[in-house]
Amino acid sequence: MPAIAVIGAQWGDEGKGKIVDLLAERVSIVVRFSGGDNAGHTVVNPQGEFKLHIIPSGIFYPHTTCIIGNGTVVNPAILLDEIEQLSGRGVDTSRLIISDRAHLIMPYHTLLDGLEEDKRGSGALGTTRRGIGPAFTDKAARLGIRTGDLLDKKTFRERLRTVLEYKNAILTKVYDSQPLSPDEIYQQYCRYGEQLAPYVRETTTILDEALRRGEQVLLEGAQGAMLDPDFGTYPYITSSSPLAGGASVGAGLGPTHITHVLAVFKAYCSRVGGGPMPTELKDDTGESIRQKGHEYGTTTGRARRCGWFDGVAARLATRINGFTKAAITRLDVLDHLPKVKLCVAYSLDGKEIDYFPSSISDLARCQPLYEEFPGWQTCTNDIRKIEQLPAEARQYLKRLEELINCPISIVSVGQKRGQTIEVKPVIKRSSGTANLPDPEHPSH
Ligand code: GDP
Ligand code: IMO
Ligand code: MG
Repeated sequence: MPAIAVIGAQWGDEGKGKIVDLLAERVSIVVRFSGGDNAGHTVVNPQGEFKLHIIPSGIFYPHTTCIIGNGTVVNPAILLDEIEQLSGRGVDTSRLIISDRAHLIMPYHTLLDGLEEDKRGSGALGTTRRGIGPAFTDKAARLGIRTGDLLDKKTFRERLRTVLEYKNAILTKVYDSQPLSPDEIYQQYCRYGEQLAPYVRETTTILDEALRRGEQVLLEGAQGAMLDPDFGTYPYITSSSPLAGGASVGAGLGPTHITHVLAVFKAYCSRVGGGPMPTELKDDTGESIRQKGHEYGTTTGRARRCGWFDGVAARLATRINGFTKAAITRLDVLDHLPKVKLCVAYSLDGKEIDYFPSSISDLARCQPLYEEFPGWQTCTNDIRKIEQLPAEARQYLKRLEELINCPISIVSVGQKRGQTIEVKPVIKRSSGTANLPDPEHPSH
């Protein structure tokens, strides 16, 4: 039975958390497969409003196992805090599992992320300063420490000593900063290890057995395609692949298990941090979208840059992910606008192009070419059927669907779980999973 990947299709913050929370009811396992606590996934469901950074957004269903996959990097302090916060609000976290292969974010990673950003000055990338880049750098450089290492204190101590000698040389000699104490980190991470031990497991067998039993698995993406190290706006990118290809490696299952790739697109674009964004609106319309959509970062609180939907970037996202279905979120944020626009091509140095340039200096010179549509100026928050959307909204979505070159299965019209139009069910409810009613929307 299938695994379905849920992938951010723009620059992150598309509403992946909402979509995963909606679909997780129908699966037995949800796996976060990339990134770390740079992610901020907001879920608004009958239990309240939650901002998840590393725990999968399927945690709210008692029948759904949630795995923090091998492809993530885990800051134990953040994870333990998130577990405590959720438990404190009555959410059962006993079905959480952490891959023993997931790498740890260590104190020197967060420190170096900040120091590197400061050193870049006006050329700063605008990272979340959560240590993500330095942790993935160490993974590739074979200097990483993994969650499983915490379970063997002797090996952990040895490994930490070797790595920290090197890190302290960088901290003191390159950044003129204070060295970190190996003993303090050792003691602190041993305590984390004891607290996390009940959750740390080998996870590929768990997934394999579930798939063999015919259960459905959801692979929860973090970040978005345009932040991918290969295809994003390099170097203004994150450090692990948010693409469907990354889902297979980062969750630990073969790519042939992934039968559907669900794109999550906003009905417009947003970006937080530096780097080119051809359709960015630095005018009143952009500001009105930011205000209406409360476009401020979940993780850092930074104002998100807002702009029209970018069909050129979207087509690249579809090509490199093989999207089979799409969820369009935040349609309601455009409800108030008299006109809406879709970018269908770029003009680069006076020449029309229909591809997303790989060079950021070319991309920075791209002028978006738009098609304009009448706005619908009707509140869509309470609409639950596609045919009940205003004709103008349907016209906009139809053209958007052509541009992304993949069928729209979900249209989201509000933050809450139930504020959703399911055009075609993405996942059928399987008999193995409980079918919990949504108290807010009993008929949903
Ligand atoms: P993620 O990182 O992709 O999970 O997205 P974020 O949670 O960072 O940002 C998306 C924001 O949009 C969150 O505050 C969601 O609650 C909210 N959201 C999701 N879908 C909708 C929608 O259809 N309409 C509105 N108004 N808000 C939405
Ligand atoms: P979710 O999962 C939006 C951005 C940062 C920065 C760049 C690199 O909530 O969609 P990093 O800390 O990863 O080294 O920062 O990537 N970024 C995100 N932007 N949503 C996210 O996650 C992001 N995770 C990282 O703002 O520009
Ligand atoms: Mg987010």
